[in-house]
Order: sequence, then structure tokens, then C-alpha cells
Amino acid sequence: MENKEELARQLEYIDKLTKVTDELKDQLGHLPKCAVVTFGCQMNARDSEKLSGILLKVGFDLDCDENDADLVIYNTCTVRDNANQKVYGHLGTLKARKKKQPNLKIVLCGCMMQEQSVIETISKDYKFVDLVFGTHNIFKFAELLYNMYEAGSQIIDIWESTDDYVEDLPVNRKYTYKSGVNIMYGCNNFCTYCIVPYVRGRERSRDPKEILREIEKLVADGVVEVMLLGQNVNSYGKGLDTPLTFAQLLQEVEKIDGLKRIRFMTSHPKDLSDELIEVMAKSDKICRHIHLPLQSGSDRILKEMNRRYTKEQYIALAEKIKKAIPDIAITTDIIIGFPGETKEDVDETIDVIKRVGYDNAFTFIYSKRTGTPAASREDQVDEAFAKEQFKRVLDAVHESAGLSNSSLTGMVFDALVEEISDNDPTMVTGRLSNNSMVHFKGGSELIGQIVPVKLESARGFYYIGRMIDNNDN
Ligand code: SAH
Ligand code: SF4
Ligand code: F3S
Repeated sequence: MENKEELARQLEYIDKLTKVTDELKDQLGHLPKCAVVTFGCQMNARDSEKLSGILLKVGFDLDCDENDADLVIYNTCTVRDNANQKVYGHLGTLKARKKKQPNLKIVLCGCMMQEQSVIETISKDYKFVDLVFGTHNIFKFAELLYNMYEAGSQIIDIWESTDDYVEDLPVNRKYTYKSGVNIMYGCNNFCTYCIVPYVRGRERSRDPKEILREIEKLVADGVVEVMLLGQNVNSYGKGLDTPLTFAQLLQEVEKIDGLKRIRFMTSHPKDLSDELIEVMAKSDKICRHIHLPLQSGSDRILKEMNRRYTKEQYIALAEKIKKAIPDIAITTDIIIGFPGETKEDVDETIDVIKRVGYDNAFTFIYSKRTGTPAASREDQVDEAFAKEQFKRVLDAVHESAGLSNSSLTGMVFDALVEEISDNDPTMVTGRLSNNSMVHFKGGSELIGQIVPVKLESARGFYYIGRMIDNNDN
């Protein structure tokens, strides 16, 4: 439920924090500098925009390098163990820095903090960390940060769950022209390898009116593309007072004047409805891209993962989508090395890759997450074997993506210009509706605009193109 009283409380803390930053400015001789370092997925990226919104509002300078910062915030991810290891690695460096710079403040938040074992380690071995909070009480950030500056010792505040959302706190968007929008929080699927349901809590859909109001405000502020975010957007709307399907929500979002593009992430194949495919096929604004995580192509492994679809059901779904929306790009996530996985299981995964023809795929080696059912299995896969299989899958992905990624050469598409190209300051990078990237000649005045571009050549995962006038081709 949206909590207005809590909003008022947090706004008071924002005021109080402004006084703290004023004092810091006098002490330091410059605006206090803060670096927000984000790990993990789009949900975390959106959360970091919320943290930054408050930090900017109370007077921190966010335009700084982590190494020069007076306040460092890590918004952590724990989906795979290497994400955790990265955080511990950074903390080692920060410990040394804090010895030389005792005023340095260190904050940890995000998914990794929802793990009991992590909190035990931090409270025992990382006492120099000043503030720790989790995913459920992020709306209390202003209050927690204020308390941190008042307190002399480590503050840890972790909640098991929450029913409250606090909307309308300041947000500092990373991009002026596009934004993520949470439509739901948490996950109920409990795939047996996955820690997300444990660290993000149960699935909760936001009220559609609040979502639409947020998007209308974003559009008024210059946003032309939104990405609707949820761990399983296809199950949006369950449990609302007036239930609404994801496809119906999309139709409402589509009506917002001035909004040009709609994306969403992530679609669970088991819940993807015919209604959604129909709505997408008819839509002018919903982008021609769907991220449809496969995880495995083996029926036995899919069952043990608790994914609740079979290989053939998945392939039939992908074919149905392509038939209804021929210009759609399909991307996926694949896990290799799930407990008990054999070479034959991986052959099945490679077979799906070949048959579906993905535009791109993110491949991950299985990572054992404490507390998940798969972690306690005795048939964990040998690392060397997993790496070998990973390579086989990657080769198949490259072959499949290579075929589909050159197929649009010679055609003209609208591209949303995102930034100046990394490698060439005379070029810009644009994103097509199908999520492909194109580089073409242009300047910063094009950023945020949607312009027609002719794709002249394919270079692996992107195109080189030329911007055209509407009546030229
Ligand atoms: N809700 C999304 C996934 C979020 S996590 C969905 O169901 O599609 C993003 C990806 O990380 C997953 O799709 C999966 O491929 C991968 N992943 C999750 N847990 C993992 C683990 N324990 N080891 C390796 N990869 C994992
Ligand atoms: Fe994890 Fe499965 Fe939920 Fe995705 S749907 S977040 S993989 S449990
Ligand atoms: Fe996202 Fe990582 Fe959390 S993938 S939901 S930031 S565990």
C-alpha cells in the first residue's frame, strides 16, 4: 500500500540532511562528494536512481569518481556468487582508504544485504562499514543516512518484508529521455537455483493508477521510452483490488500521449498470454523485442529448476510470437552447470538455440546460492565440465545471433539516439525498436530523439548506419 505518512516523515529527514551536508561542506571546503556504485539488474539500477535523487536533493555532488568520494554507496546484487565476491573485493580497498581518510562513510544496500550470512560477516569482520540496509526499507534511505551521520557506530537495518511503498520521493534519472518504471516487486516463482524470491520478497503488483501517473509525469519531464520492470511481468495484476492483466496495463500505457516507446522486462514463458501477443502485434509503441529466459532446453532440468514449461512448449511459444510479430527480436538467459546436468542435457539447450534463432543470449555458469533447493543437492557439476559446456553453448549463441543480426542490412528503421559513440566522437549510438544498436554520424543535439536510420553494414552485435531524411532512402 502507498504510505503517505511515511512520505511526509522522509521529506522531513531530507530537510534535516540538508543541514548535515551544509556542515560537511564547511568542514571539507567543497560540496560533499558521493559515489553510488550499482551492481545487478535493472531493478537495482532504478533503486540507485532513487538513492541518487535524495542525495542530489540534500546537496551531495554525485559527479565524482569512487576514489575521490566522501560517501560511497554500494547497491549490491547476489544473484551469482561472483557479484558478492566483487563487493568484498571493493570493501578490502575501502578499508585501507578509510585508515587514511577517517571521515569516509561507507554504505551497503541492495539484495546481498538481505542474506543473513552476509550481515553476520559484515557486523563481525567489516565494522568500518557505517550503514547497512536492505531492499524492503530503501524508502527510509533519508532517515537512515541522517542517523548514520548522527551515530558513531555501525547501523544495520534489515527488514524481512514490507507491504508499504513510498512514492513521490525525489529520483535522479540516469538518462533524460528514458526510464525504468517498477510495475511489481518481488517474485513468487521459486526457480530452484534462484535467490531473488528470498532477497526481494513476495510478488506485489503496483496499483495501475500509480504506474500510469508516474509514466505521465516522466513523459511531461521529457521521457520518450519506458521500460516496465518486474521479475515476471506476465503475472502482473494478481492480487490487485481490481485485477488487471499485463496486456491490459500495456494498453493503458500505450494511450499516454507523448510516450513513444514501451519496453518490458522480464517475461516468464509460463505466463506469457495470447492476449499479450495480440496487444504487442497491434501496438505502435511496444518495442519489437522480448526477453524470454529459457534457462535450459532439457525437460528433466527444466522440471528440476521448477520452470513449469517443457522444451517443446517453449519452442511453440517462440514460434507463435514470431508468427504474430515477424519483426520481433527474441533474447534469452541460459544457465549451464545446474546440478546433475549432463552433456546430453546441454545438447537439448543447443537444439533450442538453433531452432529459436535468438538475437542475443546471456549465458551464465550455475552459481550455488545458499538457501535455495538446488544448493543442497549432492550432484553439483564439476567446474571444468561446466566451463567446457559453457563454451559449447556460447558458440551456438554466437552462430545463431550472427545469422539474425545481419538480416536487417539495407533497411531503414527508427533509432532512439542514446549517446555519443564510445569510440568515435563524430558518431552517435541509437537503439532500434528490436533492441539492436546502430552507430551513425551525428552530434549530441540528437540525443533523446527518434530518427530514421539506414542500416548499411552489420558488425557482429551492432550496425553501422546513416541517418536519412524522411523522403530519402
Ligand atoms: N526473473 C528473471 C530473472 C532474474 S535473474 C527471469 O525469471 O527470467 C537473471 C538471470 O540470472 C536468470 O534469468 C538466470 O539465467 C540467472 N541466474 C539466476 N540465478 C542464477 C544462479 N544461481 N546461477 C547462475 N545464473 C543464475
Ligand atoms: Fe528467479 Fe525464477 Fe523469480 Fe526469475 S522467475 S527471479 S529466475 S525465481
Ligand atoms: Fe537484481 Fe541481483 Fe537483486 S539480479 S533483483 S540485483 S539479486
